[in-house]
Amino acid sequence: MKCLCLVFDKIKYPDYFMSVEVKGKKLLFTRKQIDDKVRALAQQINQDYQGKNPILIGVLKGAFMFLADLTRYISIPFKIDFLRVVSYGSKDYSTGDIKLIKDVELPLKDEHVLIVEDIIDIGYTLNFLLDHIATKGPKSLKLCALIDKIERRKVEVPTDYVGFTVKKGFLVGYGLDFNETFRCLPEIYQLIF
Ligand code: PRP
Repeated sequence: MKCLCLVFDKIKYPDYFMSVEVKGKKLLFTRKQIDDKVRALAQQINQDYQGKNPILIGVLKGAFMFLADLTRYISIPFKIDFLRVVSYGSKDYSTGDIKLIKDVELPLKDEHVLIVEDIIDIGYTLNFLLDHIATKGPKSLKLCALIDKIERRKVEVPTDYVGFTVKKGFLVGYGLDFNETFRCLPEIYQLIF
């Protein structure tokens, strides 16, 4: 059954974007491409974290679908936690003013921690989160991002596991949103404005 989000094509966003109109969306990654990639990432994680009982931390909201699928392929023991940050600026461009609005709940001291994120764009969010988690004294700290979007990167982000590398584009679906819509699409699309 098609996701109801599809009906939001070709509409304006008067409350948030004033004049922004989405003209359409181009399929970038299919269900199979995403599933193959997620499975491959999980296999790598299974090997690297054997015997380490890692804590996977999902960054809300965007990572919810990726994390859920990833964990279905992880066969080693692990724990899960979440955090959430908001980044100020326009929706399309973060100013680097990042605020933590929900912290992790598990103690991370001396634990092997893997941050799971949907996308790295400018880099401010992950930079902030890596610094924040590092203050909690984990034994190791790594980052797994489904998409590394490189063209607008302003700060260096050390990625350990990356699914897809893309140059540019406003991407939606599979957790990624535009003004809180399109998150539930099972594939990943590039919006056309
Ligand atoms: C997105 C994405 C990353 C962040 C990356 O989250 O999920 O967390 O932006 O941006 P950056 O590399 O440019 O700093 P967003 O702030 O849109 O919130 P969301 O996860 O709730 O959609």
